[in-house]
Amino acid sequence: MKKKVLAVVLGSMMAMSLAACGSSGDAAATSAGASTAETAEATSTPADANVASVAEAISDAEAGPINKGDTITIGFSQVGHESDWRTASTNSVKAAFSKENGFDLQFVDCDNDSEKQLESVRNFIQQQVDYIIIDPIVSTGWDTVLTEAQDAEIPVIVIDRTIDDSDKYVAWIGTETKNEGLAAGAWLKEYAKAKGIDELNILVISGTTGSSAQIGRTTGFDQYVESEKWNKLDEQTGDFTQDGGQKVMESYCKSYEGQFNVVVCQNDNEAFGAIDAMKAAGVSYGVDGDVIVISFDACKAGQQMVMDGDINADFQCNPLQGPDCAKIVADLAAGKDVQKQTFMAEPWYAHDDTVKQVSYKNAAGKDVTEDMIVVTQDIVDAGY
Ligand code: AHR
Repeated sequence: MKKKVLAVVLGSMMAMSLAACGSSGDAAATSAGASTAETAEATSTPADANVASVAEAISDAEAGPINKGDTITIGFSQVGHESDWRTASTNSVKAAFSKENGFDLQFVDCDNDSEKQLESVRNFIQQQVDYIIIDPIVSTGWDTVLTEAQDAEIPVIVIDRTIDDSDKYVAWIGTETKNEGLAAGAWLKEYAKAKGIDELNILVISGTTGSSAQIGRTTGFDQYVESEKWNKLDEQTGDFTQDGGQKVMESYCKSYEGQFNVVVCQNDNEAFGAIDAMKAAGVSYGVDGDVIVISFDACKAGQQMVMDGDINADFQCNPLQGPDCAKIVADLAAGKDVQKQTFMAEPWYAHDDTVKQVSYKNAAGKDVTEDMIVVTQDIVDAGY
């Protein structure tokens, strides 16, 4: 079975690399929260046309097994278990690559350790799994092991974070994290204007250094720091964990006492930790406080804190990539061509409608206008 699957996959890989050579502009095209028809039109690009429809994939899965042939063996090298987002991602992949759907999933939690992650991929190659899925902890250092996978004729699918120093994978599905940072900057600009706040003194708690999520959010937000001449006092990593966010914020509260009015946390769990630290230090935060809190992920607990007013705005990074990823594998196994890049749709959330929409030039260089969605109980209840 494997030889048959690989033959059709290699055909697809060749077709895709040819397509990739001829469409470098498309490869850079990006999409964010296509939350209105107007937005979808404004951002329309070949990549946008391929924005994943999770609902569609789920209903396909409900209609019957995703893979209708022999069992396909998958090796999944996951970043770790550092956040609520990560738990949702793992659950999504495990559910989509279930036995009932025709898969045998080998799962490795790499505990945020890059060496362990490379080793896990090499073990999958040794085991001769049919496909390897990688959510890369960091975006570089991949070419050698991807070459090894290619030599072993095992197609690699990348999810969530990007690999930036090699193109030896067949497909990627994830989010444009630079747009998340840009949208956060655009929101803060309008929010400060609406509230009459003239001076922004910003502390950033960043994610895992060298991860594409950290690089994208920092790069996007920093465009606004520079263009608006905001004062970024400091940026230290909280490694996308609650404990990390709390420790960094405890130290910020001492070093920058009374000097800051914005905290940007690059994921919800860091925001939870930062809020605990501010509470303990007697710093008021959120919609009724002195410090504006911005977060990313918009997981269920994060959305609850937005609704409660502890977090002012939260920019979603969609973790539900399992169904679309399983469809990609099933398509490859069936000899169909697949898109090299698939962007997940992701909306932006706020406590109130002080800022109704954000407009910015996205990572693909397109002018976009997107809604800020006010979080309601229904949204929280439907969250992950
Ligand atoms: O790569 C996605 C990021 O990684 C999410 O923002 C974060 O919660 C996770 O740990």
